[in-house]
Amino acid sequence: MEVRGAPAIALVGCLSLAVELAGGSGPTEDLGALEEFVGQRLGVLLGARPTAVNMAREAQRLRAFVRTRVETPGVTPQQLRESIIEYIEGLLEKDRGDNRSIGEHGARHILQGVPGGGPVTLLTHCNTGTLATAGYGTALGVVRALHARGSLSRVFCTETRPYNQGSRLTALELRHDGIPATLIGDSAAAAAIRDRGVNAVVVGADRVAANGDVANKIGTFQLAVVARHLRVPFYVAAPSSSCDPSLPGGHLIPIEERPKAELTHLGGVLLADPEVDVWNPAFDVTPHELITGGIITEWGVFAPQELRQALEERGGN
Ligand code: MRU
Repeated sequence: MEVRGAPAIALVGCLSLAVELAGGSGPTEDLGALEEFVGQRLGVLLGARPTAVNMAREAQRLRAFVRTRVETPGVTPQQLRESIIEYIEGLLEKDRGDNRSIGEHGARHILQGVPGGGPVTLLTHCNTGTLATAGYGTALGVVRALHARGSLSRVFCTETRPYNQGSRLTALELRHDGIPATLIGDSAAAAAIRDRGVNAVVVGADRVAANGDVANKIGTFQLAVVARHLRVPFYVAAPSSSCDPSLPGGHLIPIEERPKAELTHLGGVLLADPEVDVWNPAFDVTPHELITGGIITEWGVFAPQELRQALEERGGN
């Protein structure tokens, strides 16, 4: 949890490899040995957070890139090393650009669905901003884009128990940017949506399955159920790098379980019977039929059932 947020986990993981390579780690004389070193380092990173797909996808793509370079006639180990570093640096720029596009597509789509074209009040969950990505954010990118247009009345952010990414990170980002924001307890979400004029709920994703089911921070599923009941559109903002077309449905996404102490303790203070049984999943899966607003990607907004085709047309992602 030193680094968290699906895109940031992949980016920091890859950058850590770039730092090692730039510092001279790994074999210097032999292409095959350098390829093996890169593969081994990526293997270490893969176990970090099983629910998010981003690290696994970037590792797969980086391995393919290295293979192509190794097979290119005349490439030296030094050139291979430099090209890997350059490739990894490019990921940062791509993620920032993707988030800007997600923000614009999401803002436009949400405003189109509102009588009079806005301004709108949103509700978001967990942290999906600059602190979870290379910058700007996914769901928080949509919030930022609406604010930049003068079309955001207010955003409600949930505290996001038990790790409090909402109160510790999202509230901080929103205050930093001067965006009108109100922090609420997770248990206040249904009342806020109904009684405070929320026009749409926008959350991020750790992994989107081929059928549009979405794994995201625990509590996302119950927000989607409430939004459906109250007929408020529910959006997921996710770059294509968070999509996993190899998984047919969300039931196949591994869900990370976190330590018991996250629930029994707060700031080191024991709040519960120390012997109580605890179930602490970090993520849940929202079925695609509850994603009524759509899935906002860098390419546009898709109904969950359109996502598979969009990924296929653009070559996976
Ligand atoms: O456990 P975390 O803090 O890594 O969880 C983060 C989330 O669930 C985010 O909503 C998700 O990774 C999307 S980040 C753009």
